[in-house]
Parts: sequence; structure tokens; C-alpha cells
Amino acid sequence: MAPPVRAQSDLDAGRRLFRACRSCHEIGRGAGHRMGPHLNGLIGRKAGALPDFPYSLPMTAAGLRGLVWTEKTLDAYIADPQRFIRGTIMPHVGFRKPADRRNLVAYIREASQRETKEQAKLPVKTSD
Ligand code: HEC
Repeated sequence: MAPPVRAQSDLDAGRRLFRACRSCHEIGRGAGHRMGPHLNGLIGRKAGALPDFPYSLPMTAAGLRGLVWTEKTLDAYIADPQRFIRGTIMPHVGFRKPADRRNLVAYIREASQRETKEQAKLPVKTSD
């Protein structure tokens, strides 16, 4: 098994921070859309690209203009969603602390990849 990219403590912190997202976003095995789209396979995907979620026009347009979710763009979005994508319908205000964002992005990256790589093997959905 490859060594973890981030310390487990960082991922745990990120998982706790993800509670701020979980009311609207599912991630991990069996995740589906809620008020927001599921976040599986997020890193490396174009913004607003899941075919069965009704994104806002600004989010779809950002993807069409070439916005791809990477650790960097996700960090910028989480810092201030409305500023990064003016007119997004996502109502979250964002996280000011860079350390929080690093941990949260690390968790999302890990949880969303685990789904795409090992979906069939994981018995349970990622949760607290
Ligand atoms: C109250 C509901 C709500 C909360 C809380 C929320 N989101 Fe969202 N999120 C949305 C909605 C709705 C969209 C679609 C936005 C649009 O189309 O403009 C979205 C879109 C996104 C996208 C783009 C997905 C894609 O497929 O392009 C990301 C990434 C995201 N949210 C991450 C987060 C993170 C991380 C958090 C926690 C810090 C969070 N969201 C909290 C509702 C929410």
C-alpha cells in the first residue's frame, strides 16, 4: 500500500471540517446528490460537469471556461465561494484559515479518490 500523502491527523481534522459540507454534499461509497452534487471523483474534473445535477449558470460557465478542480482551485473556492465563482448558488461562506482549508482539501481528495478506486471493495460509506 502506498504511504498516505497526508498525516492521518490532518485527514481526521479535514473529516471534521467536512461536517460543514455534509448537509449538502455526500462523498464516498453510495454518495448521491443532495442540495449540492456528490463530490466523488472531484479532483481532476471540470467544474459543474456532472450531467445529472442542476448547476447554476455561473458554475457551468466556469467549467466551460476551463475551471478544473485541483487542490489549488478547491482551496480558492472554499476560501470564498462567492468570490471565486460569482453567482454560484452554493450558500456556504467559506473557511478563512489556510490550515483548515489544507486539511479539508486533503480529506476531500482522499475520500473522493478512495471512492473511484476502491468503490467495489469498501463495505461502508465514509462517515463520522
Ligand atoms: C447549503 C448547501 C451547501 C453547503 C453547506 C456546501 N455546499 Fe458545495 N455546493 C452546493 C450547491 C447548491 C452547489 C452547486 C453550486 C452551483 O451550481 O453554483 C455546490 C457546489 C460545490 C462544488 C462544485 C462541484 C462540482 O461538481 O463542480 C464543490 C467543489 C463544493 N460545492 C464543495 C463544498 C465544500 C467543500 C463545502 C464545505 C466547506 C460545501 N461545498 C458546502 C451546496 C452546498
